[in-house]
Amino acid sequence: MLIKPSRDGSNPPLSSEITPREVYEERRKFIARIAAGAAVGSALWEMANREAFAQTPAGQKLAAKANPALSTTEPRTAFKDATNYNNFYEFGLDKGDPADNAHTLKTRPWTVSIEGEIKKPMRLDIDSLTKLAPLEERVYRLRCVEGWSMVIPWVGYSLSNLIRQVEPNGNARYVEFTTLADSKQMPGLRSGVLDWPYVEGLRLDEAMHPLTLLTVGMYGQVLPNQNGAPVRVVVPWKYGFKSAKSIVRIRFMRDQPKTAWNVSAPSEYGFYSNVNPRVDHPRWSQASERRIGEDGFFKKKRETLMFNGYPEVASLYAGMDLKKYF
Ligand code: MTE
Repeated sequence: MLIKPSRDGSNPPLSSEITPREVYEERRKFIARIAAGAAVGSALWEMANREAFAQTPAGQKLAAKANPALSTTEPRTAFKDATNYNNFYEFGLDKGDPADNAHTLKTRPWTVSIEGEIKKPMRLDIDSLTKLAPLEERVYRLRCVEGWSMVIPWVGYSLSNLIRQVEPNGNARYVEFTTLADSKQMPGLRSGVLDWPYVEGLRLDEAMHPLTLLTVGMYGQVLPNQNGAPVRVVVPWKYGFKSAKSIVRIRFMRDQPKTAWNVSAPSEYGFYSNVNPRVDHPRWSQASERRIGEDGFFKKKRETLMFNGYPEVASLYAGMDLKKYF
């Protein structure tokens, strides 16, 4: 027990309470030995952890062949911006939350189940999925429904490669993407902002379009967790929320899937959600956008382009009233 002498000296320590020099010197050596032991222990702990992290190769280089035919030549958004200004509500609502919180996402082992109206249902682990087709680098614009955009070099392959492997049957008209919802890894699930899991969907012909990218990396490396590791889709002509992150199931369906944003606010987020400067969001204009990294008081906003500047997809919607099917 430690007895503190009072400040005025009225309660001086007894001589028997004063530790003899040789004893406290020995005690100091002992404490130093324990501290050294603890350092070894923590080094071992760190090594073990590094091993655990080694199974999660976020940041590892990912070889991919550039595909200039499907890439924009606009200046790329800085990696720092693309990885620190994110929407991934499973990790929080603020733009910096995913970068701060997504380290808890365990991306290995990871299996994607492919099911529904197909002849060959399968469960693919993330490494087999990554190797299913040659990886390409495609620099796409990504336009968020909130009115900002980025230009990102994604790594992946056309989702059509996977779709052809699983052979959709005659009933398959839509593809649904269900993403991970695990409250142990995803603190944002506590918020009731969406009806979890985050679900998105495409019509089968949209999913088959060569631009629709099954994405496993960006900037020449494995996807950072906050950008949807280990696998997401990127659909560049649609508002960013259609590009579902951290996918665990791809299901082929006869009927249009119920998608998370459409269920939560059907008048604001249609199933199609093609980037369309002529159809405003009920609460704001969609005519222009702010390019992340180009901020500044005098910087003019960019004009938003129809289909986000991918006119080659227009034929998918021939004859459709895009005000009705927004
Ligand atoms: N996927 C999941 N699972 N959860 C999300 O909250 N947000 C979407 C989309 N995919 C989201 C998601 C939205 S609104 C956008 S704009 C893009 O991811 C953002 O992708 P990025 O952070 O990689 O730029």
